[in-house]
Amino acid sequence: MEAATKAAASVNGHGPAPVKGLPPGPRMGRVPQTAIWSRHAQWLLEQSRARFGRMFTLKIAYEGDWAVISDPELVKQVFTGDPKVFHAGEGNQILRPILGENSVLVLDEKKHIGQRKLLLPPFHGERMQGYGEKMTEIAAREIESWPTGVPYKLRPRMQAITLEIIIETVFGVHDAERMEPLREALRDFLDLTTNPRILLPVLMVGPDRVQYIPAFRRRIAAVDRLIATILDERRRAEDLEERDDVLSMMLQARHEDGSPMSDAEIRDELLTLLVAGHETTATALSWAMERLTRHPEKLERLRAEVEAGEDAYLTATVQETLRLRPVIVVVVRKLTEPVELGGYELPAGARVVPSIHLIHRDPQIYPEPERFLPERFLDNPPGTYTWIPFGGGVRRCLGAAFSQFEMTVVLRELVRRHQIRPARRAPERNYRRAITETPRRDAEVVLG
Ligand code: HEM
Repeated sequence: MEAATKAAASVNGHGPAPVKGLPPGPRMGRVPQTAIWSRHAQWLLEQSRARFGRMFTLKIAYEGDWAVISDPELVKQVFTGDPKVFHAGEGNQILRPILGENSVLVLDEKKHIGQRKLLLPPFHGERMQGYGEKMTEIAAREIESWPTGVPYKLRPRMQAITLEIIIETVFGVHDAERMEPLREALRDFLDLTTNPRILLPVLMVGPDRVQYIPAFRRRIAAVDRLIATILDERRRAEDLEERDDVLSMMLQARHEDGSPMSDAEIRDELLTLLVAGHETTATALSWAMERLTRHPEKLERLRAEVEAGEDAYLTATVQETLRLRPVIVVVVRKLTEPVELGGYELPAGARVVPSIHLIHRDPQIYPEPERFLPERFLDNPPGTYTWIPFGGGVRRCLGAAFSQFEMTVVLRELVRRHQIRPARRAPERNYRRAITETPRRDAEVVLG
C-alpha cells in the first residue's frame, strides 16, 4: 500500500500501525523549496495542501523537515501535547544572541514555564483596561499628526504607535528626556531582528559566534546600557509597588523559590516583548486598514458603531483581520522523540508545523474563506483550534490580549478622526519581511 493511503486508513481507525516517517510532500529539492518558502510561503502551503492533503512535508534548509498540518484535530494534539516532546524554543535559537539566553522565546520545558509564569500577570485580560488610557492618548496624538489628501503609508506610522505603546506600558518610561534615547536605541536594536544584512550573517556564523561581529556587539551594548540605567532607577522608585507597567511588575515578580528575577532575565524579557510585540501588532493594524479600505461599507459600519460606543463590530474586525491576514503563517515545534500523528510515526528531530494560514483558509471551517467578513465572528466566537493567529498551548502568544486590545484602541481612534480611502484601488498583495507577512505597499491610504 502507498504510504499516504496506508496512513489515511489508519487515521480513520481501520488501518494497521502508523507509517514510519514523514508524510509525502513536493519533490523539488531543499534549496528551491527554501527559496520559494522565503518569498512565497502562502503559495507553497496552498499548492502543497491541494496536492497532498492536510498533512505534508516541506524541506526547509536551515530548519530540517517540516511536517505541516492543517487539520484542527491534529493542531489540537500538537498544542496540547507534552512540552517535553514538542519544543518551540529550540526553533528560535537564531534569536538567542539578540534576546539572550533567558528569553521565554528561546527556552523549553521547565525553564520556559518558569519564565512564562513570571511574565503572565501583566498580560492578563483585565489588566489591559489599565493600559487603555495611555494607549488611546498615544494613538490619538500620532494620528492627529498625519497628513490628509496625499497618499500615506500607514505601516511605518503604526510601528511608531506600537513602539511608543511598548515604551510606556512595558518599559514604563514616560518622561521625554529618557524616551528619546530609548526610542532611538530600541529602533536600532529592532533593526537587528529584521534587517536581512544582519540576519544573514547571524544565520551564516550561527548563534554562538555572532557576538564576534563588532557592529552587532555595539548595537546590543548600547541598548543594554540604557536598560541597565532604567532598571537601576526603577528599583529605587518609591512608587514601584503602585506602578502597573510590565517592567515594574517584573521587578516585583518572584521565582518559585522566592528569588527575584535577575537583571539579565529582566533585560532579556523586555527585549523579547519588544521584538515579539512591535512589528506584529503594527502589521496586523496595517492589514486591518488595507482590508477595511477595500470594503467601504464595512468601514462605515465600523465607524457608525464606534461612534455609538459599541465594540462588537470592532472586535470582530480585529478577529477577521487576524484570520484572513495572519501576520505569521506557521508555528513550529521540534520533536524530541518520535510522535504518532495523523497516521504517521514522525521521527525525533523533525518539526511539526501547524499552519495558521491553511487552517484560516479552510472552506469547511470558514465558508468563502477569501472574503473579508467581520460578520462571521459576530455570533460565533473564534475557536481554540480553528482561529490560531497567536499559536496555542503553553506557547500561545503572551501578548494576545494586549495586542488585540491595542488594535481596537488604535482603530477606534483612527476611524473617529478620518475618512480613509485606499491610495490605489487594487488590493495589496503580501510581502514577506523577516518572518511577518506585511501589505506590499505598506497599507497606503489617503486620509480625509
Ligand atoms: C497581532 C500581534 C501579534 C501576533 C499575530 C503574535 C503572534 C505570535 C505567535 C504566532 C507566537 C508563537 C505561538 C506558538 O508558538 O504557539 C507568539 C509568541 C509570543 N508572543 Fe506574540 N504576537 C503578537 C503580539 C504580541 C505582543 C504585543 C507581545 C508582547 C507585548 C507578544 C509576545 C509574545 C511572546 C512573549 C511570545 C512567546 C510565548 C512563549 O513562547 O511562551 N506578542 N506570538
